[in-house]
Amino acid sequence: MPSEKESISFEKSNMTLDLSDTKIDNDSKSDSNGVKDFIVTPWEVAGDIDYSKLIEKFGTYTISDTLLEKIKYFTGEIHPFLKNKYFFSHRDLDVVLDEYKRGNKFYLYTGRGPSGPVHLGHLMPWLFTKYLQEKFDVKLIFQLTDDEKFLFNSNLDMKTIQKYTYENIIDIISIGFDPKRTKIIVDTKHIKYLYPLSIEIAKKITYSTAKAVFGFSNSSNIGMIGFPPVQGAPCFLPSIIENKPTPVLIPAAIDQDPYWRVTRDIAEKLGYPKPAQIHSKFIPGLSSGGKMSSSKPETALFTVDDPEILETKIKNTFTGGQPTVALQRKLGGNANICPVYWYLNYLFDTEKESQERYSDCTSGNLLCGECKSDMIKNVKPFIKDIQTKRDKAQNLIKDFMIDGKEFFEDGSVGFK
Ligand code: TYM
Repeated sequence: MPSEKESISFEKSNMTLDLSDTKIDNDSKSDSNGVKDFIVTPWEVAGDIDYSKLIEKFGTYTISDTLLEKIKYFTGEIHPFLKNKYFFSHRDLDVVLDEYKRGNKFYLYTGRGPSGPVHLGHLMPWLFTKYLQEKFDVKLIFQLTDDEKFLFNSNLDMKTIQKYTYENIIDIISIGFDPKRTKIIVDTKHIKYLYPLSIEIAKKITYSTAKAVFGFSNSSNIGMIGFPPVQGAPCFLPSIIENKPTPVLIPAAIDQDPYWRVTRDIAEKLGYPKPAQIHSKFIPGLSSGGKMSSSKPETALFTVDDPEILETKIKNTFTGGQPTVALQRKLGGNANICPVYWYLNYLFDTEKESQERYSDCTSGNLLCGECKSDMIKNVKPFIKDIQTKRDKAQNLIKDFMIDGKEFFEDGSVGFK
């Protein structure tokens, strides 16, 4: 751990994986008709995801109505992301809430692998994390795994990753987290905070487990094999900071779950609470199937896109509509496979508006152009607001960094 002088205090403001090489295909199967099943790993998300099956496959738990009521007890409401089941699965969320009721506050922990600009999908867990931070009045560790992106992606060099790291930090700050209760860790810059914990974790995980969970093979570079404990370490850092066993809750999409599975397995052996999770679904890409991903820029809506680019991307997006207006009127569209329907459902429509949109679409009363136009009307001001906040965020960086130091676009830290 850092020396006493460098110890981490949230009170003081001075505290202060597109991994084209690793196509883990262990979830990929075909049924008797040759229809390909879906794949969800930290490095690849493809196919039509059946989220109920995924819960079974990963051994996680559905967020039940009873659990929603338990959350409401503290928040006074049910957040739209919970109401519309965008956050749909969890591990030990009930345990964390029970501890909270007893006065044992949890830490939030989330992150980003800086492989490109931030898109709408990344923003979803962060917006929800910010909400949880405010409602529960808790601290947050935000990890940027620049090492992960370097090791797992043969197309990315460190210079490019450093630029994205800086840009992504600006986005994270723009979300509006509380600087007094949020600390950002960039792995290659702040590894001293994580390394002692990483090696404790690494020592307890065999290669055989890592291979089974992450799909490593003889051609995986050895940096990849050593990486998972680095993403596991922030799960235990709060216990070190607080000097007592401290629960951690991780909001993220469900692709990150393999990391938590191995970390949970060894937590108690090391004397730390098992990290809890709340898992979201994925924001689809602007084409058919798969998730929105920085590695397919034409199918993603980025926080740095100009309004005209956003408009063009949305106008060109795949929808669940029929090839002609006449057919759409006659047969109706398929809202279930339509990214535009889901963006509006997850982010912008009220429950009632979304239900009306669904029935108007499927009955042929609504044309794709109308939904696209609603989407453009909503997305443009939403991204514009983030861009305005990005301009101001540049001055706040050192308030958020775990070492309280400046962070620059070229990856250097401290004063220039
Ligand atoms: P990364 O950079 O791939 O993704 C950052 C966060 O965004 C989620 N996500 C999505 N959510 C909805 N729709 C999408 N299309 C979509 N694409 C990505 C991810 O689940 C994640 O929550 N290894 C991690 C970085 C990391 C991390 C963490 C993430 C380090 N520690 C703790 C979550 C929690 C990564 O590369 O995330």
